[in-house]
Amino acid sequence: MIRINLKVLLLSLCAAVAVVTLSLWSRCGEVVMASRGRKGGAQTAEWDAANKKMRNGQMTVKFDSYIGEALERGGSSDLQAYEEIDCHINGEYSIGCRKEGGEIYLPFSFLHKYFEVYGKLATYDGYERFEWSHSYSKVYYPKGKYDPRGVFMYFENYNVEVRDRVKCVSATEGVPVSTQWEIQGYYYPTQIAQFGLSHYSKNLTEPEPRHTVLEDAERDLARWIIPSDATLTRELDGQTGNHVVKFSSPETYQNGVSLKLDHVLDFVLSLNVRLGMNSSFTVVLQSREKRDQVFQLHYICSELLISAQDQHVYHGIGNCDQNQLWRRLTRDLVVDLHKGLAYQNRLKRKFSRSKLKVIGLTFRGMGQLDNITLSTSEHLSQFYDAAQWLVNHQDASTGGWPNPVRRRVAPGMADLEPGWYSAMGQGHALSVLARAYHHSGGDTSYLKAAVTGLRPFNIASSAGGVLARFLEHIPWYEEYPTQPASFVLNGFIYALLGLYDLSVVAPSTASQQATQLFKQGMASLKQLLLLYDTGSGTTYDLRHFTLGSAPNLARWDYHATHVNQLLLLATIDHDPLLTVTAERWIGYMSGKRAAHN
Ligand SMILES: *[C@@H]1O[C@H](CO)[C@@H](O)[C@H](O)[C@H]1NC(C)=O
Ligand SMILES: *[C@@H]1O[C@H](CO)[C@@H](O)[C@H](O)[C@H]1NC(C)=O
Ligand SMILES: *[C@@H]1O[C@H](CO)[C@@H](O)[C@H](O)[C@H]1NC(C)=O
Repeated sequence: MIRINLKVLLLSLCAAVAVVTLSLWSRCGEVVMASRGRKGGAQTAEWDAANKKMRNGQMTVKFDSYIGEALERGGSSDLQAYEEIDCHINGEYSIGCRKEGGEIYLPFSFLHKYFEVYGKLATYDGYERFEWSHSYSKVYYPKGKYDPRGVFMYFENYNVEVRDRVKCVSATEGVPVSTQWEIQGYYYPTQIAQFGLSHYSKNLTEPEPRHTVLEDAERDLARWIIPSDATLTRELDGQTGNHVVKFSSPETYQNGVSLKLDHVLDFVLSLNVRLGMNSSFTVVLQSREKRDQVFQLHYICSELLISAQDQHVYHGIGNCDQNQLWRRLTRDLVVDLHKGLAYQNRLKRKFSRSKLKVIGLTFRGMGQLDNITLSTSEHLSQFYDAAQWLVNHQDASTGGWPNPVRRRVAPGMADLEPGWYSAMGQGHALSVLARAYHHSGGDTSYLKAAVTGLRPFNIASSAGGVLARFLEHIPWYEEYPTQPASFVLNGFIYALLGLYDLSVVAPSTASQQATQLFKQGMASLKQLLLLYDTGSGTTYDLRHFTLGSAPNLARWDYHATHVNQLLLLATIDHDPLLTVTAERWIGYMSGKRAAHN
């Protein structure tokens, strides 16, 4: 029943929509505008009221403005009669519809909610039309064969650190801190890996960044302002054999050595530092529109993650010790400012980069500095921060990257206790580490972490690994190693991509292990893939099978992820099952459905 109605409605879309949005009537050739003051005018008022009522029921399409416009335009004297008619919906409730000749028109706001379809008015090429869409997500067609040394999926479009569920980018680690499942913030390996992969991918796709060197101590020093109780000198550094800047000043706030700047557009600061205990530095940003709006970003020797008060934002760079090795810090100043304002719930509207400038930089305490730059981006530094985090925070004995939060996946499944591993997190980590191994020209610390990271793929999820078996038989790498198993599809495919990445980039023995796991996973994927197909979309997991519950239907963005993943896999595995399935699933996104009996 519903399907037939939908088809009829699609065919008469222009007409159907015109009923709801009176302003469209004059655009639709076959429908004639109802005139004001006669029957149509009175009905307009009723429609207005009816639509207001519907909006209270959370309808998302706005009608009042269109109706207002239509009233103003009015004028047309040709009349085609339509009648109001009640539509009884499944015998459960009624809504107001219209009857015109043999056709019945339903309000789009109703269709939107009933069928979860989307629509908006759009004006271009000089006229307005209504655009109906069955889904809201995008398919990315791969440009060529997937290459583990290249862009990861379409992650060049990701901007992990600006997401609301990222509390801040840790200034100690250089990686994002998530608040998704625990509000105080925690390191979430999957998110950290995505941050790394997005920066790696952006490095390959974005235009060349601009860099301005503020200080490199190679020639004369820049024009530092040095208070009388402070010193600043240029010296040869024993560790690097380079000239660096050495400074010392009281630790108190005002009396630092500073640079006065007037720098716009480039907001990624990076510098090499070696700071003594209690030292700190501050970057001063100013609004270009309201010059009295000045923000101070303080980077302090502390384990503090982030704190902020009024115009002051604090990020801890960890404990400092003048005897430690040189560190390179990379900070996106605009992200740091936004996170500081969000920390105080003051981020109503994000400052765009074009509305800010950097006006100063101050160092306090004592230490050494080199290579201070402001750049459009420092994607590779941020990528390597993620890769280094993965090397430093792996459980050495198991090879897992622990998720330090409790997680409930579905009612009826046991909670995952803090410390669980995710096949998706492991796979993403392999994708990062394989790229770092490749890009660094063979740094074995990345390879070693990646190979160790394969271990959980061989350990049952019931025993602390990520391996489940469908019907005790078909192996599956679990994004969430739940009891009973959940068989999440997108996380499994991300795990496969990580295994593939390592298999391509690693030398022989390591490559063999990854290849074997990848092949095993591809075989499972082909066996189980169609269990996710509902005939009009996909399911996110197989909980309907393992829990006996209703299927967990994939939202359109997850459905699109399934499609994008299959299209990508199809560039490295030519089994037609992948492409044929992907094409059918693409069809679902524009309302096509599998045939019925
Ligand atoms: C990408 O990284 C290379 C160094 O490997 C650098 O020269 C280039 O400017 C970077 N490009 C972008 C867009 O980040
Ligand atoms: C750092 O600050 C603490 C607390 O203010 C102080 O006790 C300590 O002496 C300082 N250390 C140095 C090396 O200045
Ligand atoms: C500053 O950059 C130069 C050029 O990349 C490098 O040789 C030098 O070691 C860097 N300085 C420090 C202290 O790392």
